[in-house]
This record gives sequence, C-alpha cells and structure tokens, in this order.
Amino acid sequence: MRKIIATGKGGVGKTTSLSAICQMMSSEGKRVIVFDTDPSMNFALGFGVPFDKVSTITEDRVQISEHLEEEGIEVSGEEILRDHSVLTKDGIRIVIMGAIMSGGDGCLCSAISLIKILLNYAEETGDYDVAIVDSQAGPEVLGRGLASEFDINMILTEPTAKSSEVSRQVMKLGNDLGVKNTLLVVNKVIDEDDLKMTAELVGVDMDSTIGIRFDKNVIKADREGKLLLDAFPDSDASMDIKCLLNKVESLI
Ligand SMILES: Nc1ncnc2c1ncn2[C@@H]1O[C@H](COP(=O)(O)OP(=O)(O)O)[C@@H](O)[C@H]1O
Ligand SMILES: [Mg+2]
Repeated sequence: MRKIIATGKGGVGKTTSLSAICQMMSSEGKRVIVFDTDPSMNFALGFGVPFDKVSTITEDRVQISEHLEEEGIEVSGEEILRDHSVLTKDGIRIVIMGAIMSGGDGCLCSAISLIKILLNYAEETGDYDVAIVDSQAGPEVLGRGLASEFDINMILTEPTAKSSEVSRQVMKLGNDLGVKNTLLVVNKVIDEDDLKMTAELVGVDMDSTIGIRFDKNVIKADREGKLLLDAFPDSDASMDIKCLLNKVESLI
C-alpha cells in the first residue's frame, strides 16, 4: 500500500486537489482509502457525505479502544475499519478523525494515535492500493509522527511568502520522519514566475515542483457544493491536477 500525505497552510487547496486525485485513481481501478485528519471534515462533505451520517474517530474512540482490546478474539482490523468509515459513490473509503467534541476536551493526540493504528490495519488487510491523508492546516499532524515512512509528502502552497514558510516547516518534518519523496504543489498560480519563485522560497528543485493554475471554476464548483471534476472536468485546474496525478503516480 502506497502512502501519501497532503500538508500545508490552511486554504491552499489540499482538499480540492486530493478529492480530484482520489476520484481519478478510483476510476483507474485503484482501491483508495482516505484518512481525513482535518477537524473541519471537508473531504467527506465534498463527496456528499452528510454531517449527521458521519461517524468520527473522536466520537467513537472509546468504542474503538474497547474493540482493539478484543482484537484477535472477535473483531478484526478489517471490521473496525469498515465500521468506522464511509464509502463514497466513487468507491473511496474515508476514515474521518473529526473535531474535539466540546470546549476543554483537550487535544486530538489520542485520535491521531488511533488513526495510526487504523492506517496499519489498512496496510495489513491488503485491501487498498493507496492510502491518502488529508491533513489539518500546519505541521501538527506531522509532529505526531503520523506520516512516518510515507511515500510522498505532497506540500500544497500558494505563491506567497507566508504559505512558503509553512511549506518549509512541513518539508523539514516530513524529511525527519523519513518520507521518501517531497512534491511541492504550487496552487493558484497566475504566471510561470510564481512557480519558480515559490520553489526557491521553499527550497525545492523545479523537478519536484508542479503548478495548478488559479481557476474561477474551482470556486464556482465549491459554491455549488460540487466536486471540481464532476462540475468542470476540463477546466484549467482539472487539467493541471491530472498532470499532478501523473507526477504522483511516477513516484509510487
Ligand atoms: N486552483 C484554484 N483556483 C482558485 N481557487 C482555488 C483553487 N484551489 C482551491 N481554491 C479555493 O481555495 C479554497 C481552499 O481550498 P481547500 O481545498 O479547501 O484548501 P485546504 O484543504 O488546503 O484548506 C476553496 O475555497 C477553493 O475553492
Ligand atoms: Mg482541507
């Protein structure tokens, strides 16, 4: 099972580009499992999974921990995964970490630890070709070691100094964790210079840098509550994400 994590500042396009990548991989016949570790749970919502149908790891963690203790007797990792995830119409399985339930509930550490266990189960079952983590903004999820020895740290960034600074941080953490490949994805690109300037700011070769053009259709699809590929499959951003998919597939 190949493992990819998307990292970067909030609002840079992680969920938008990953959703399209997952749809394309799934339509090629790849078995895809997504771990949505962003407390805003946008990934599943984008695929039309309603909020009230979502069973999250933070909500279910006591029950999951009990199951884990029983493991080997009655409950397999496969069952735990199936019971605590949703399947989209595209055949993509999504495990949703969820948010802290109420004020003062503390951090998401135990939920992230459970995600790590579920990721190992996904690998052990042999049921998936690719596991993809849509991470929350910033370096938190890498700081907790979730992406240890992943295949790709896909760093999404906008062509700005602030966003590039977060990218530098997540690149360093990814390298510390032994992630095999770094791919810099500069999103909302207006011209060629954006790509070069951002690659230099982050400190990544142009060979490992790819751009997605700024595209009003992305915003339009968002407003209409549709996935980009469903609404505008031939738009600039969709075409660029197809190139991104080719690059990702050349690395895994
Ligand atoms: N290529 C693009 N062109 C224009 N707007 C974009 C593009 N990619 C993403 N966006 C917009 O940026 C916002 C944040 O995107 P999102 O994928 O939710 O980011 P993240 O998951 O990194 O927080 C959304 O409103 C989305 O419509
Ligand atoms: Mg997101």
